[in-house]
Amino acid sequence: MNILHIDCSPRRESHSRRLSAAIVEKLLTMVPEAHVSRRDLGREPIPHTGAAYAAALATPASLSAAGRTADAVLPSEKLIGEVERADAIVIGTPMNNFTVPSVMKAWIDQILRVGRTIDSTPAGKVGMLEDRPVFVAIASGGVFMGDRANQPDFLTPYLTAAFGCIGLRSVHYLPLQATAFIDEARAAELRRSLVSAIQPEMAGLFAAQRITS
Ligand SMILES: Cc1cc2nc3c(=O)[nH]c(=O)nc-3n(C[C@H](O)[C@H](O)[C@H](O)COP(=O)(O)O)c2cc1C
Repeated sequence: MNILHIDCSPRRESHSRRLSAAIVEKLLTMVPEAHVSRRDLGREPIPHTGAAYAAALATPASLSAAGRTADAVLPSEKLIGEVERADAIVIGTPMNNFTVPSVMKAWIDQILRVGRTIDSTPAGKVGMLEDRPVFVAIASGGVFMGDRANQPDFLTPYLTAAFGCIGLRSVHYLPLQATAFIDEARAAELRRSLVSAIQPEMAGLFAAQRITS
């Protein structure tokens, strides 16, 4: 089993990092021999897409097999390969201004590619990747989900649409909210309860027998 573990917080110690680490730890208790690969977008941001990539995606040649080896799409190929090799993806991300941080958006811009991960059909975009579970640990200073939400949420609908259009439909959100108002003891309690709530979905991974250890 391969787990792709992605973090987006620029902080070395952070709520979303601790929560994503707790999810990975839980998966490892289920499959101790699983391999974890890391992509730390927070500490080592990938560059935003540039002119060469935009030009490559604007030409029909980019849709061909040869187009996949063009220099401009190599960073995209590398990042898509990391997703393709993963049986499960765990993402830790802060909410920044109601949505994902720009480091995550830069990654999404490399992963979502017509002709490679998205098939553009008259009926709309169809995902080309095989579905696999994605666990998204979200840390937010305030509250955006549930009865006490007092701000808009452009994060979870956006990720659901972005991942859905490449074929990843099994997205599970673990929101650790109000980080501006809680101490570490309360945060630890919330982490434990969020991870235990997601356990049935994790068990489902094994039941579906997609995951082999
Ligand atoms: C630039 C920036 C924008 C933020 N925007 C929001 C926001 O829209 N909603 C919110 O609840 N918290 C917001 N926050 C607070 C963070 O979500 C919160 O501090 C979170 O715990 C950060 O994640 P981390 O602990 O993993 O670093 C923002 C923080 C920063 C630095």
